[in-house]
Amino acid sequence: MFPPTADIASAVRPARGPRRPGDIDAIGPELGVFDAAVGRRVLMYQANPVATLRAVVRALRPGALVVFQEADATMFPASRVPLPLNERANRWMWQTVEREGGNIHMGFDRVPALEEAGLLVEQVRAEAIVQTPKLRHPVGRIIRVMLPRIVEHGVATEAEIDVDTLDERLAAECAAANATYIGDVAFGEHAKEALLSVAGRSERDVYAVGADKGAGPLVLHYDGAGWQRLATGARGDLWWVHAFATRPHCGGGPSARANRGPTRWPCAGGPCDPRES
Ligand SMILES: C[S@@+](CC[C@H](N)C(=O)[O-])C[C@H]1O[C@@H](n2cnc3c(N)ncnc32)[C@H](O)[C@@H]1O
Repeated sequence: MFPPTADIASAVRPARGPRRPGDIDAIGPELGVFDAAVGRRVLMYQANPVATLRAVVRALRPGALVVFQEADATMFPASRVPLPLNERANRWMWQTVEREGGNIHMGFDRVPALEEAGLLVEQVRAEAIVQTPKLRHPVGRIIRVMLPRIVEHGVATEAEIDVDTLDERLAAECAAANATYIGDVAFGEHAKEALLSVAGRSERDVYAVGADKGAGPLVLHYDGAGWQRLATGARGDLWWVHAFATRPHCGGGPSARANRGPTRWPCAGGPCDPRES
């Protein structure tokens, strides 16, 4: 399990002090002044996101970057033909988040919250995670990670989910209808040099990805001692990185996919490791 986002946010500031875990609502002056606050799927879990954002803003230097990305269930899942299993799998995830008290509409609620907290939102984007019979999103792997929470909240049983065969059955359902399916959409700000997503497999293996300023997407790796920028040989913004146990998995907008080169990075359709590129 990787550290909480507030923990990672302080890790993004490696040169100026030790990384300390903690509640973002309780960031105090003893931690110093931050150049950036980056979070993904964090605001949706705050009882009062505006109060949380105000606490974050108090810890930032003037002009600092604030980048939050949130998922949203308002408009999705969507497809032109019924895909009952894909839709059910989507409900398992969102119902669990909802029963845990998460706001499943945070994509739409995000900009008003950012503005109410006194932030200037310069540009907003949303990216749909589009699946086809061949281009799959790792839904089964995500559900495997969420399984104890899904069962605990009475959303579905392990037998109903049958996680070992789930990805195969989801793909087969899409293939039988030759369907294009959108199960998820990510809302985020777009800023030059912005870090858009941070994820890690341990305190010594953290990735941060972000915008392409003209020479390829920002990809940073933290090995416990310092951050290194990784070259990808690819172009386009990278919007998210997931830290699965075996290797990181990342994806970007349409330009990142269209310009995919011979390297395995960025990879919209399958697992990849930036260190291999
Ligand atoms: C859904 S996870 C997202 C994790 C990661 N950012 C990602 O995108 O994969 C929510 C994260 O928010 C963190 N979190 C939620 N509320 C928090 C708070 N008040 N202070 C610090 N971290 C918090 C949790 O510890 C957890 O790591």
